[in-house]
Amino acid sequence: MFVSWVHSGISCWKGSFVDADLSLERRCYAPLVGPGTRAQPRRVRRRRQQQQPLLAMTTQVQRNENFSKLQGGYLFPEIARRRRQYLERHPEASLISLGIGDTTQPIPPHICSGLTHGAQRLGTKEGYSGYGDGEGLYALRQRIASSIYGDRVKPEDVFVSDGAKCDIARIQMVFGNQVTVAVQDPSYPVYVDTAVMVGQTGRIDASTQQYDGIVYMRCDAANDFFPDLRQVPRTDIIFFCSPNNPTGAAASRAQLEELVAFARYNGSIIVYDAAYAPFIRDPSVPRSILEIDGAHECAIEVNSFSKYAGFTGVRLGWTVVPSTLRFADGTPVAKDFGRVMNTAFNGASNIAQQGGLACLDDAGRAEIERLIDYYIENARLLREGMESLGFSVHGGRNAPYIWVHMPGRSSWDVFTEFLERCQVVTVPGAGFGPAGYDYVRLSAFAPREACREAMRRIQEAFGGVTDPARVSV
Ligand SMILES: Cc1ncc(COP(=O)(O)O)c(C=O)c1O
Repeated sequence: MFVSWVHSGISCWKGSFVDADLSLERRCYAPLVGPGTRAQPRRVRRRRQQQQPLLAMTTQVQRNENFSKLQGGYLFPEIARRRRQYLERHPEASLISLGIGDTTQPIPPHICSGLTHGAQRLGTKEGYSGYGDGEGLYALRQRIASSIYGDRVKPEDVFVSDGAKCDIARIQMVFGNQVTVAVQDPSYPVYVDTAVMVGQTGRIDASTQQYDGIVYMRCDAANDFFPDLRQVPRTDIIFFCSPNNPTGAAASRAQLEELVAFARYNGSIIVYDAAYAPFIRDPSVPRSILEIDGAHECAIEVNSFSKYAGFTGVRLGWTVVPSTLRFADGTPVAKDFGRVMNTAFNGASNIAQQGGLACLDDAGRAEIERLIDYYIENARLLREGMESLGFSVHGGRNAPYIWVHMPGRSSWDVFTEFLERCQVVTVPGAGFGPAGYDYVRLSAFAPREACREAMRRIQEAFGGVTDPARVSV
């Protein structure tokens, strides 16, 4: 009995249905039944389904070569791997994570009622809504403009989104692959990774761990975590995060004025990440770059409800693109960003946006303040605990991150030391850029008891050590 098999214009045949003949069949692909081919008997189809797994194959599609340049999400998977290995060796250990920058406290009741109200509306004829504006609910844009920016920005300049990380990627889509970029070193890895993905860079240099085509602006204890802009060459785009992840540094007004003057002089655009702005406790520190004169012609601000209100899983953020910010040919940047928002995005969840409205009324703002106070108190506990042991500690005053300096020691060694001696998980600074080589980051987003217990263990292990640089496993 002969059966025709047709695939991509190639036909082949098979004389009998014994296993020995499967080698021939393997050269063929799934049978097509259609004009010009004969249907297989059901017995044959069943046999194929039962006995012959689909063949492994690759497509003819070339991989986007930019993705082969990426360093492949190395940091957190590697932390998870080392953590797992430790637990395999010490199954009884109870690890405390001061690693991840995710919130842990529940969403406060008034804000939560905004979310449930948003969900319940959808079950009513009057309240139901489907797709909304790609830029977000106008009422929420208005409230962000007034409540967060004191009406220094117009509601039309506010684009509501599903979070700051996603907006950074969409902003990169607007800029494309012909721009040059600068980042703080160390920095939140998304600026560099998205730059690589859209093709703004060459390959990474294995010895410096820096991508060709990116300007790394070193920020360390020696320069008060603010780059020496006299040494920084001009780039089109400058990513700048304050309060900073991972260093916990919040740029002063004078520093932001310097940054804006630098961008204006060079005709650059600053992408300012203010995701941690609500942690600023020092009233002299600006919560937005748009407080600085001249920033409306050279800056975009990315922001998020994630850390404000525990919305890391809810997903809600916003980006301000002032209408006065223009490309070299005079096109408003907001025009292109709006185009991306309406093409590669379809508006933030209507439920989340109702939650956002609740965040920004009086009751919601009071709840946010209490939530942030909780994390800032954790940060104080960690900061003072580490300081009392003689560690060199930065951040943690206007930010939820503590940046601990171990001069000359590899951050991965220090990570291992905290893990082995205290069962405390930290994040090695090297994961945020070469300048993080001898720092580790502690996150204050853990529950209070976990912070206390972590400090107790660290104090027990390191008590009496006055020169942490000399500590070894
Ligand atoms: C500096 C910075 N920007 C943005 C984000 C992501 O924010 P979102 O949850 O709004 O995407 C994070 C998250 O950790 C961050 O550290």
